[in-house]
Amino acid sequence: MLEISEDGRTWVLSGPASSYAVHVTDRDELLHLHWGPRIGLADAEALAVRPLPDYWPFESPLDGREEYPVEGGPRFVRPALSVRTAGRRGTEWRFEGHDAGDGELRLRFRDGDLAVTLHYRMPSATDVVERWVTLDNRGPDAELLRADSATWTLPDRDAWRLSQLHGRWGAESRLTRSGLTHGEKVIGSRRGHTSHQHLPWVALDTDATEERGEVYGCALGWSGSWRIAVAQLPDERVQITGGAGYDESGLLTLGTGESYTTPVFAGLWSEGGFGGASRAWHAYQRAHVIPDAGRDRPVLFNSWEATEFDISEEQQRALAERAAAMGVELFVVDDGWFGARTSDRAGLGDWTPNPDRFPGGLKPLADHVHGLGMQFGIWVEPEMVNADSDLYRAHPDWVQYQPGRKRTEFRNQLVLNLARDDVREYLWGQLHGLLADAPVDYVKWDFNRCFTDAGWPDDPYPQRLWVDHVRGLYALLDRLRAAHPGVAFESCSGGGGRIDLGVLSRTDQVWTSDNTDPLDRLAIQHGFSQIHPARVMAAWVTDSPNVMLNQRASSLRFRFVSAMAGVLGVGGDLTRWTGEELAEAREWVELYKEIRPMVQRGDQYRLRPPQGGLSAVQYVLGDETVVLAWLQAQRYGEPVPALRLCALDPAASYECLETGEIHRGAVLLHHGLRVGLRGDLDATVVRLKRK
Ligand code: DGJ
Repeated sequence: MLEISEDGRTWVLSGPASSYAVHVTDRDELLHLHWGPRIGLADAEALAVRPLPDYWPFESPLDGREEYPVEGGPRFVRPALSVRTAGRRGTEWRFEGHDAGDGELRLRFRDGDLAVTLHYRMPSATDVVERWVTLDNRGPDAELLRADSATWTLPDRDAWRLSQLHGRWGAESRLTRSGLTHGEKVIGSRRGHTSHQHLPWVALDTDATEERGEVYGCALGWSGSWRIAVAQLPDERVQITGGAGYDESGLLTLGTGESYTTPVFAGLWSEGGFGGASRAWHAYQRAHVIPDAGRDRPVLFNSWEATEFDISEEQQRALAERAAAMGVELFVVDDGWFGARTSDRAGLGDWTPNPDRFPGGLKPLADHVHGLGMQFGIWVEPEMVNADSDLYRAHPDWVQYQPGRKRTEFRNQLVLNLARDDVREYLWGQLHGLLADAPVDYVKWDFNRCFTDAGWPDDPYPQRLWVDHVRGLYALLDRLRAAHPGVAFESCSGGGGRIDLGVLSRTDQVWTSDNTDPLDRLAIQHGFSQIHPARVMAAWVTDSPNVMLNQRASSLRFRFVSAMAGVLGVGGDLTRWTGEELAEAREWVELYKEIRPMVQRGDQYRLRPPQGGLSAVQYVLGDETVVLAWLQAQRYGEPVPALRLCALDPAASYECLETGEIHRGAVLLHHGLRVGLRGDLDATVVRLKRK
């Protein structure tokens, strides 16, 4: 809902529980008024007439109060917008007016030839505010040093706390929480992709707990380099500014008649604690970001850990047969099926089946997989090329490089320049052909190295390649999705190196981490769930001991219950699993299919975080709920605590589908459920149905 004051200078956007209000003064200063519980226009107007503090001359009264601080004038905060035009720096805008329609509010400003429009949208039935900015240049070149998507302003409170998700390859999305101090905390990526190191999300609270208290969250929808700066100003006010690009050294130059649209930076206020905020983010993504989120994701098998590069059609058929017998619904051939790809040294760029490995192409295997009742998927890494490939031999200038400089190889590969039309067109031809030639239902789209030499002839570093590569990726994905609407896509980047709201709006799920150790995964999944729903979080059961990483041995039970907290997959070498293991796995897959609607579409409650002892999550959908619990290690003499459940009707009874036991809702809520775990690395699934 949008309310507008009579003079057209105060606006209030409201969702089911929250409101967001801004005001333009008669000096054309755009002030932030409110972000928090629902208010009406009269409240916003009362806030608008509160005088600004009298701070001169060493502080600016605008600092910490402006909705989108531009560079220049009486401001000392980090500018969201920093522009150079012929002989002039900074921005001094005039308010031109607003327009509203299609659920969107647009506030229009102009500085000479540069039009700046601030966009706001609160998609239906959510408290998420989506913000972005468009810049239109009618004059000579305007250099955008920085053009952030939004600045978010928090209300005055005594002590703010910042939550963030940091990590590295194999250890993504680790949650940390620390008190904010004066100055700035800057997170981001200067790697050309979202990165394993930080997810583009922050949350701020003062005293929230998992299920209570105010939490503000912001998440950026961009899959390239990015930056979010959280600043605590001298008068304690806190602002969060974020957008595409890491540095101030130049995002891109807008020529005459050119425009730039920033990615969306979404913000959410919740008073339901961290859990309430996460559930609101999940619901928003399922309803407004993730394509077709009402459709549950199938159980998949992926061949990577089983075979790595050593693959053949016969061996994939054998794996497929075992996977099908286990109840798997989608069989994915990972790396190694194309070109001269017998190791990571060759083949990237040549997207035709390797004739020695797949003499008849992929179709015979795809048909076999379909015949077994499963969907068929393949792995690709379209943005990359090995120097040892036909593509690179034909087009060495198609990669990102700086003329006269070394071309840095990571994992023996170079990054193609997707800002180039010819490169995108080539990739479109290859991928479209691939999807047309074999009945492919699923594409795992990988990205296994960061940008290092981002340049191309005549356009030296830094330049718009950083932005246009990402736009090129989005355009390619959009075009492929439109041409092949039946094909689902997974975003992967050496695990979780490209997970953000931008890529999630055009992919069906993401590969969470290359770390498939089921215990390590609990911490990764705990962090992931802060912002993203289980519906997109792919998790595989692999071999024990874990061959890829830490050699930890764990039971099939523990591995399955860990992976069942997301989109279940199996990634072990099934040709080496015993008959008993295969039979047990089949039972787990069957159980997962029963709880899948709750996991993938339900509300998630984090009952206990993974911190050494007992941890658990609960999913609730309608009258059914399921609890997944893990015991990392049991100390002698310490009982395993009962799990206090959430979101049940205290007056109702619930039947445990595992034991037939009847539980009182009030007892489960207040005294908890005993899960009977013991020893080390134990796990269980408990389903409860309202009687
Ligand atoms: C990195 C991915 O995260 C893995 O799952 C696998 O697909 C490899 N790349 C293949 O090269």
